[in-house]
Amino acid sequence: MKRVVILGSTGSIGRQALEVCRWRGYRVVGLAAGQNLEELSRQIQEWRPLLVAAHESLHEELKARFPGLRLGTPEEVASLEAEVAVAAIPGLAGLAPTWAAARTGKHLALANKEAMVAAGPLLWQEVEAHGTEILPVDSEHSALFQALLGERREDVAELILTASGGPFLWEPEDLSQVTPAMALNHPRWRMGPKVTIDSATLFNKGLEVLEAKELFRFPLEKIKVLVHPQAYVHGLVRFVDGSLKAQLGPTDMRLPIQYALTYPERAETPLQNLPFPGVLEFFEPDLNRFPALAVAYEAGRRGGVAQVAVSAADEVAVEAFLSGKIPFTEIPKILARVLENTPSLPLTWENLFAVDAWAREEAKRWA
Ligand SMILES: NC(=O)c1ccc[n+]([C@@H]2O[C@H](COP(=O)([O-])OP(=O)(O)OC[C@H]3O[C@@H](n4cnc5c(N)ncnc54)[C@H](OP(=O)(O)O)[C@@H]3O)[C@@H](O)[C@H]2O)c1
Repeated sequence: MKRVVILGSTGSIGRQALEVCRWRGYRVVGLAAGQNLEELSRQIQEWRPLLVAAHESLHEELKARFPGLRLGTPEEVASLEAEVAVAAIPGLAGLAPTWAAARTGKHLALANKEAMVAAGPLLWQEVEAHGTEILPVDSEHSALFQALLGERREDVAELILTASGGPFLWEPEDLSQVTPAMALNHPRWRMGPKVTIDSATLFNKGLEVLEAKELFRFPLEKIKVLVHPQAYVHGLVRFVDGSLKAQLGPTDMRLPIQYALTYPERAETPLQNLPFPGVLEFFEPDLNRFPALAVAYEAGRRGGVAQVAVSAADEVAVEAFLSGKIPFTEIPKILARVLENTPSLPLTWENLFAVDAWAREEAKRWA
């Protein structure tokens, strides 16, 4: 029986990954979460994991509810003996556990895009040294991964990520009056707050472009975004001979999660009546309306620690927007200002953490 650890188990991806484990009858040996006591308690009750990581404030209560429960850090959970680790703790907080999982040689079902964006080449060193395989969970990257299977790298002309366009694709005209409630109401996906706001600014697509650059190790110029409101085609690969290969499927994260968990096999899905849209549209993104996507491309062009800086600044800017401190339209401006001031340094672990801390302070200054 496949053993799985879930990092970020109480979140949107974590809960859907557990559902897939239920479908497949997998054994969940480790759970790592933050502060959601009730959801984590339900999960411990159901899965009886060998090790659990949770925010310190929950430890006493968890010990009282589950005598004998072993508590550890997310890194210790990530290092448990298992066949797959699902990395779904968002932001740079997810980096250390993702890195720990990458060192164990198990399959790494990667949802946390920020880890790859900030530390791609450093993560790859661990992955290659330990024979780990990365299976992307993000639907667009899962699509590209599947479309690339069996193809020669030199035959690839372009990787195309699709974007649903988020809640403000067409309106309101003036985005400065957008409230957190409006931005959190994504028309297609139910996700955690950070990724939902990123989807509304299209910075999420920018992070995905950078994730694709690091994950598939293609130059930035070969990675393109097309808006596709039906969100049915998740990713396309255009080859040098002009052919396109696409991966299509319903808008349900449990499908790419299941693929990452069962890889290299495919398993039947219990989902019924999967809808098929009548119309498929594709068009170029409007960078005037969604400048955060252009900022991400610029960070990718600069390379080094620039990707670390914009990703960290975005965490601060999104939080400031959600707490009512800044308007929606200030988010891309903060990202651009932080990027402008980012020192040009090579990517090392030391520089990564120094620039991450610097960018957070810099973003707070503007927020
Ligand atoms: N949701 C999606 O459909 C989707 C799609 C593609 C990619 N992603 C990516 O997947 C990642 C997870 O997204 P999500 O939507 O699942 O987020 P989410 O719903 O906000 O869940 C985050 C999870 O991480 C835990 N967590 C947060 N900070 C932590 C910390 N410092 N230490 C330990 N655990 C911590 C949370 O615990 P508590 O809730 O208990 O505090 C929760 O279990 C993100 O990087 C996102 O970009 C998500």
